[in-house]
Amino acid sequence: MKFFADTAEIAEIRELAATGLLDGVTTNPSLIHKSGRDFIEVVREIAAVCPGPISAEVVALDYDTMMSEAEILRKIAKNIAIKVPLTPDGLKACKALTGDGTMVNVTLCFSAAQALLAAKAGASFISPFVGRHDDVGFDGMQLIADIRMIYDNYDFATEILVASVRHPIHVVEAAKLGADVMTAPPKIIHQLFKHPLTDAGIAGFLKDWQATGQKIG
Ligand code: G3P
Repeated sequence: MKFFADTAEIAEIRELAATGLLDGVTTNPSLIHKSGRDFIEVVREIAAVCPGPISAEVVALDYDTMMSEAEILRKIAKNIAIKVPLTPDGLKACKALTGDGTMVNVTLCFSAAQALLAAKAGASFISPFVGRHDDVGFDGMQLIADIRMIYDNYDFATEILVASVRHPIHVVEAAKLGADVMTAPPKIIHQLFKHPLTDAGIAGFLKDWQATGQKIG
């Protein structure tokens, strides 16, 4: 499973990239707003820090303007994935952009039918929002299971990018279902390392090691 960071905070991205576990980054207009940074500038910096796909989202709702925005965004770096919304114009832009060799992440997916459409439009990634799905009383993980089954039935190459991840269990459940990618805020990626028995084990081993009076090297 690939790990993407869902953030536009460059310091957090650098820290995660240094672990060797970061495969890409996703941004959205809300994350850009939160960063307080210039969109193009921050995406350029992120793309230089992380060689994996960096999602940058168009904000237009009509095909022609989406394509003009995508043209600007894809020139930022070779590893930019254009993020488009799951609408008829978004999927039309998806088809045109992927046909031209550009990575496309189709976002705001809340149903298996929408995911099927995105795959038919040649999306590189489909982003089902599991947390927001759970928030309104649906089962986000059932959506991932349904999309996995449909994509496998037809050998679609579109990667399932689990988004709106709220806690480590979302990551584990998505991995059990065979999702290709998950994107999560850095805080959640750091939480994946944590287990109280790991901390207790380290403390116990260090105490006993000190009692031996030995040193390595
Ligand atoms: O980037 C899209 C998605 O991950 C947003 O998550 O937490 O705003 O629902 P959230």
